Amino acid sequence: MTPGRTIEDILNLAVWAPSGDNCQPWRFEVYDNKIDIFNVPDKDKALYNFRQSGSMVAHGALIENIFIITSQLGYEVRPSFPPAKEKNNLVASLTLTESKPKEEPLYNFIKVRTTNRKPYKKHYLSPEIKENLLNSVIGEGGVVLIEDEKQKHLLGRSLSANEQILFENAALHKSFFSNVVWNKREEQEKKSGLYLKTLELPPPARLAFHLFSSWNWLKFLNKLGLSRSVAKTNAKIYGSCAIMGAIITPSESDEDFIAAGRMMQKIWLKATASGLGMQIMAGLPYLARRVFANQADMLSDTHHQMIRNHYSQIESIVDGKNKNIVLLFRIGDGGNPSARSSRLPAEIKVIKPFVLK
Ligand SMILES: Cc1cc2nc3c(=O)[nH]c(=O)nc-3n(C[C@H](O)[C@H](O)[C@H](O)COP(=O)(O)O)c2cc1C
Repeated sequence: MTPGRTIEDILNLAVWAPSGDNCQPWRFEVYDNKIDIFNVPDKDKALYNFRQSGSMVAHGALIENIFIITSQLGYEVRPSFPPAKEKNNLVASLTLTESKPKEEPLYNFIKVRTTNRKPYKKHYLSPEIKENLLNSVIGEGGVVLIEDEKQKHLLGRSLSANEQILFENAALHKSFFSNVVWNKREEQEKKSGLYLKTLELPPPARLAFHLFSSWNWLKFLNKLGLSRSVAKTNAKIYGSCAIMGAIITPSESDEDFIAAGRMMQKIWLKATASGLGMQIMAGLPYLARRVFANQADMLSDTHHQMIRNHYSQIESIVDGKNKNIVLLFRIGDGGNPSARSSRLPAEIKVIKPFVLK
C-alpha cells in the first residue's frame, strides 16, 4: 500500500477502526497541524452505548490507527483530551509534528482487520503470540487472557446471556434491529450499520432472522424456547476459540474507555497480522454498567438479576473486582469471514489546511 499523503488520506484509512454496529460516530476538524476529533452521539443511539462509552472505545481504536499511520509517515502525535466541562463532543485534539518515519508493523493490517463471528478452532497459541497480545497495555488499564477450557466455557455462557436478554426485552430488541442492514445493496448504500451477512448465521437462522425482527413473532417463539436456544448456540461459538481476553480499566472515565479502545485495536491488529480472527463480546458488560448506575428501568427484575449474576461470574474469572471490565474478546482461527462491513468517507472540515511534507 502506498502511504497516504494528505490528512484526508490519513483519516480515510483511520476510519477502518471498529465501532458498535459499524456506526462510525466521528467527524473531524483540521486546523493546520491539529486534528480535532468530535463524537457524533446521533450516530449511535443504541441502548448499549451507555453514556457514550461504546463510542469512546471506538474513538480509542480510531486514535490508535491515527498514531500508527502518522508514525509510518513520519509524524509524532501529541494527544490532548479536553476537560469534562469544555467537551462539547470534542473527544481529543491531536497535534502532529514532523519526525523520522518508522516502519510500523501493524500499518498494513488496518484495512485488513475485520470482525470474524465464525466458530474458531481450539488450537494453542504460541507463547510469543500471547506475549505480544499482552504487550498492548496503555495507561493504567490491563489485558487478561483466558485459555482454560472450563473458564472459556463459563465466560461464553455468561456473555451469551446478553443475547437471551436482547431477545426477551422489547426496548433492546427494537434498538438492535433498527441497526441491522439486511442485504448487500443496502450495505453498499449506507456503508454503516450491522450487516446481516457478517453475523455468520447458519442458513435456517438467517432465513428466520426477518421473523425475529418482529417483536410479536419473537414473543411467541420465545415461548417455544428461542431466546434460550440462541444464547446456548452463541455460548458454544464464543467458547470455541484459541483464547479469550478481557480489557480492564481502573475507572469509567472517557479517557479510560478511549485507552481501552486503543488496547483493543492494538490486540486486533496483532491478531490480524498473525492470521487470526477476532470478535468483541461487549453486550453483557455494557448492560451491567447501566444496571449498576440504576439506569436500566427498561429491563425486568429477572433480567437485572441475570446481568448481576453473569457480570459477577465474569468478574471472578478475569479478576476484575472493583475495576471496569470494558469488553471481552475471543481470538482464533475461523477461516475467512463471509462478508465485511464498508466505511463512509471521513467527514472532515478543513479550517486551515495542513500541508504534509
Ligand atoms: C465498543 C464496541 C463494541 C462491540 N461489541 C460487539 C459485540 O458485542 N458483538 C460483536 O459481534 N461485535 C461487536 N463489535 C464489533 C462491531 O460490530 C464491528 O466492529 C462493526 O460492525 C464493524 O465491523 P468490522 O469490525 O468488521 O470493521 C463491537 C465493536 C466496538 C467498537
